[in-house]
Amino acid sequence: MDGKLIVFEGVEGGGKTTQMQRLIHWLQASCFPIASLVATREPGGTELGKGLRRLLLGQGSGELVSDRAELLMYAADRTQHVETFLKPQLALGTMVLCDRYTDSTIAYQGYGRGLNLDLIEQLNEIATGGLQSDLTFWLDINVEVGLARVRARGKRDRIEQADVEFHRRVQQGFAELARQNPDRIIRINADRTEDEVAQEIQAILSRSLAAWGYLKSFES
Ligand code: TMP
Repeated sequence: MDGKLIVFEGVEGGGKTTQMQRLIHWLQASCFPIASLVATREPGGTELGKGLRRLLLGQGSGELVSDRAELLMYAADRTQHVETFLKPQLALGTMVLCDRYTDSTIAYQGYGRGLNLDLIEQLNEIATGGLQSDLTFWLDINVEVGLARVRARGKRDRIEQADVEFHRRVQQGFAELARQNPDRIIRINADRTEDEVAQEIQAILSRSLAAWGYLKSFES
């Protein structure tokens, strides 16, 4: 069986990284026969991507990054990630958990920066060759609450420092994407305890894994 691509999305401070780690531990201890499981992220899932991530999120020289240059760097990161990591892993049957993917570009560069949505969709298509997530968890948190969590962690990256209106537009982007893709994108209320969020994610993924035949292959 080909692997599955499970993506975590959402505005800053929603707990994606923590929830991904929790899901890995839960999957490793679960009854599902998942032979191979990896976690990755965008930007930064490849060596090229790590360099792009530093350029995109670091303080750099202080030179302003133009919106279109930013878009193309995210697209370059994704192209490399899909071709050299995601597709080969999925072909081996690996379950891949990915921190952000194509919806982030629509939400951040489309809704947030105001770049043309059709153009972004075309770029996503070029970067992914049509590879979509099998399931996307949108960790929906109130923008102010999320940004306060990020501030409490200390140093903020270039995008985290953008004004609150930018992050509100990004949030609207995720809400619109979830409305348009109800089968693929599952909204998770992330304004709850870590345990409550983790349990809901586990319950939803259990149902999907059963529907994808993971239990059957275990029984046979
Ligand atoms: P994070 O993975 O630590 O959340 O940081 C990635 C940052 O990059 C986050 O602010 C969202 C942003 N981003 C975009 O603006 N567009 C994209 O396509 C992706 C993947 C991330």
